Amino acid sequence: MTQAPGGGTAGRWAKRDASVVWHGFTQMSSYLDDAPVVVERAEGHELIDVDGNRYLDAISSLWVNTVGHRVPELDEALRRQLDLVAHSTMLGNTNRVVVEFAEALASVVPVDRPHVLFASDGAAAVEQALRIAFQLWANRGVEGRTSYLAFGGAYHGDTVGALSVGAGGFGTEVFDPLRFPVLRAPGFDDPSCLDVAAAMVAEHAHELAAVVVEPLVQGAAGMQMAGPEGFCELAEVCRRHEVLLICDEVATGFGRTGTLFASEQCGLRPDLLCLGKGITGGYLPLSAAVAAGHVFDAFLGPDPSPRTLHHGHSYGGNALAAAVALRHLQLLEERRVLANVGVRSAQLARLLSAGVAPLPGVGDIRVKGLMVGIDLDPPGPAMRWGRRVCAAAVRRGVLLRPLGDVVVLMPPLTVTAGEIERIVAVLGQAIAEVTAS
Ligand SMILES: Cc1ncc(COP(=O)(O)O)c(C=O)c1O
Repeated sequence: MTQAPGGGTAGRWAKRDASVVWHGFTQMSSYLDDAPVVVERAEGHELIDVDGNRYLDAISSLWVNTVGHRVPELDEALRRQLDLVAHSTMLGNTNRVVVEFAEALASVVPVDRPHVLFASDGAAAVEQALRIAFQLWANRGVEGRTSYLAFGGAYHGDTVGALSVGAGGFGTEVFDPLRFPVLRAPGFDDPSCLDVAAAMVAEHAHELAAVVVEPLVQGAAGMQMAGPEGFCELAEVCRRHEVLLICDEVATGFGRTGTLFASEQCGLRPDLLCLGKGITGGYLPLSAAVAAGHVFDAFLGPDPSPRTLHHGHSYGGNALAAAVALRHLQLLEERRVLANVGVRSAQLARLLSAGVAPLPGVGDIRVKGLMVGIDLDPPGPAMRWGRRVCAAAVRRGVLLRPLGDVVVLMPPLTVTAGEIERIVAVLGQAIAEVTAS
């Protein structure tokens, strides 16, 4: 067992932190009581705190890490780019390594004649896709196509546009007056959600700019999953009624679900594809909205022109991030990472079903690739089982963070068989400790 976080040097660093840092989605008045892990360095799949305690990063640093920390090839790509240039603007100009990465990305995304608009965070990529979809109709001179269809349980990020297409919750209700209205299909916890969404698209097509969906897995909804079959029908209805399809693969992209993109398993070729998180293997902030050729073409015209996309971010297409992202894409192939996801996913499902599902207090368990949600079923409200189980796992050296009473497992895509065993064993002990108390 590792030393409890919060004591020793970590306790002092946490206090320094709390006096100057404001952590998102964290109640700062009790932040220190929850013994935050104070990371100093990392090796492979483990984070190491300032006291030398090691934590298996079983949430991939909030779903961004893919092939581990301090990967020699990625470190090298970053160092090499540092000797060239760290950043130059992509507004009206370009950068060699960004072009190279865009070409590599264009060759693997399930998007026809792709054009890549870079940003830094997932929410910004979604925001860009929403803006592109909205303006496309204005550029085409079509009136009334100003709304979006999104799903219950959806999460697309925290900017106002992304929050609007998201289903809310997570304590964000205070912002509800800021959110623009959207058509809302049921969430993935309803097996008919895709059929209902398809029917809603057919009925409301004349007012819809786009449909926004997370293919296969709604991550932040607690790893709610929909089978691949229903997505084809939704895409077909969108195509028939000329409603744009935006696939948000910020969480599912870059191998998480067993294919490079979840859209591939669903037979989808979206008009707009949102990418982020794993795009740099978890090294640097980079995101992208990838637009199909026919979407891109709708913005061509004279200069100056209202057809131009007047949207862009200072750090969109950062050269350091692009250099790492380019090497990372090659590494996924070289290390046969997708094959590992398949094998480790099957092992994880097997071990969870044998060792965790039978435990008292455990409900449904959902696994897709290396995205896992384990429902805890506390006997009463406000028992914070999710938080307490994850805290008990952290004390045992496995870093977890829940979504309410859903324990999330998101190990790195290169996770080993031994590490999967360790995660499941620790989770079982943590659940037993909390449910017994
Ligand atoms: C599906 C999806 N879209 C968008 C986002 C937002 O990404 P970011 O936190 O990088 O803004 C997330 C984050 O969890 C996500 O899961």
